[in-house]
Amino acid sequence: FMLFYSIFLLKNGSVASIPKQVERFSKFSPSPLSMKQFIDFGSANACEKTSFVFLRQELPVRLANIMKEIDFLPDKLLSTPSLKLLTSWYSQSLLELIDFLEKDPDDKDVLTNFTQTLVNVRNRHNNVVPTMAQGVVEYKEAFGVDPVTNQNVQYFLDRFYMSRISTRMLMNQHTLIFNGSVNPAHPKHIGSIDPTCDVVEVIKDAYETSKMLCEQYYLTSPDMEITEVNSKNPGQPLHIVYVPSHLYHMLFELFKNAMRATVETHETSPTLPVIKVRVSLGTEDLTIKMSDRGGGVPLRKIERLFSYMYSTAPSPVHVDNSRNAPLAGFGYGLPISRLYAKYFQGDLQLYSMEGYGTSAVIYLKALSSESVERLPVFNKSALRHYQASTEADDWCMPSKDPKKLGKMNNKIKKRKVHAGRSG
Ligand SMILES: Nc1ncnc2c1ncn2[C@@H]1O[C@H](COP(=O)(O)OP(=O)(O)OP(=O)(O)O)[C@@H](O)[C@H]1O
Ligand SMILES: [Mg+2]
Repeated sequence: FMLFYSIFLLKNGSVASIPKQVERFSKFSPSPLSMKQFIDFGSANACEKTSFVFLRQELPVRLANIMKEIDFLPDKLLSTPSLKLLTSWYSQSLLELIDFLEKDPDDKDVLTNFTQTLVNVRNRHNNVVPTMAQGVVEYKEAFGVDPVTNQNVQYFLDRFYMSRISTRMLMNQHTLIFNGSVNPAHPKHIGSIDPTCDVVEVIKDAYETSKMLCEQYYLTSPDMEITEVNSKNPGQPLHIVYVPSHLYHMLFELFKNAMRATVETHETSPTLPVIKVRVSLGTEDLTIKMSDRGGGVPLRKIERLFSYMYSTAPSPVHVDNSRNAPLAGFGYGLPISRLYAKYFQGDLQLYSMEGYGTSAVIYLKALSSESVERLPVFNKSALRHYQASTEADDWCMPSKDPKKLGKMNNKIKKRKVHAGRSG
């Protein structure tokens, strides 16, 4: 397949131009869109031509910016078959999109072809996450993990997957809005955005699906208790302008984790402690806190739960069976959910009490004017991250064996003398 693929590109005569095009488009910074702009693109005065002219430039810019960073990954990772396949998708999509730069926006066929190209590009990139994860596993199996590589891969993958979330958002909006029909189930949605997203409804949906999986696997599941606080309009339902599928994704992942932890730590007890969800709408934040009594995680391990490299999950080769492995698989549940939260300037954090339970908190912007895409840009500061050399930690390492008291006293004395002299 790979061979066929490269021949195709060569015959197309454009494979040679890829580095030049990446260079050209990565010189531009991506333009983050606000929720308001997304809505304007899709409202009554929606103009397919305007959207087309924006996207034929913006999509290559976002792709080229992240392709530039792919180039700085360690050679040992880049040379894995998975990464080669993945970079070929990016190159092909970049070429297909920049083809439209010379096309006439007033030509109806051009607009139709563009929409079809977006669908093709989106489908081509469907398996980017498992393919990238497979590359990381291959690398890990061959070379192991060290803290520096973990940190670099973490930095890259957070940006890489964020870039992917953003390009998919742009492509989805265009194809959904300009396909000439209204979504019958959700006529008020603008593309994938719900201008009055009912947060509690999404929580209930995500809970029900997770509960179903939990019962299939464990034959039992914890109940849920929701508390709502609307400080803006007391007593009113909690609405925000948001992408319900993103919110659902985060909540579903958190419920799966909370249910697994709850069931597994209460295997022998006759009842399961409930999962408590509290939602609160303030002037700045909409906050969702999900608390379980699933035994918690020690503080030392919390950061690692968000790591792509240290993920506890088995090799994602088995990702095809993920439907059978209901409540845990990949190990990407938390890091990807955090990216969805951050995408529109929110966040996702875990607070845990080892021996008791965990609270996961999703922060979203309450105001659509503050929900603006958070996008990586390739520039000098990004470059510095990839060129950082291995340096010693700037915090003391606790020593394994206790120092001999005699020696210790000497050191302290010396320091004091020194301090005395200079002071
Ligand atoms: N609420 C929780 N209580 C206890 N441990 C948790 C909780 N949430 C997450 N964890 C721990 O963090 C790990 C990582 O969670 P994450 O959701 O990222 O991956 P996963 O659940 O292993 O796999 P998946 O990709 O299917 O979600 C889990 O395997 C689990 O050990
Ligand atoms: Mg999970």
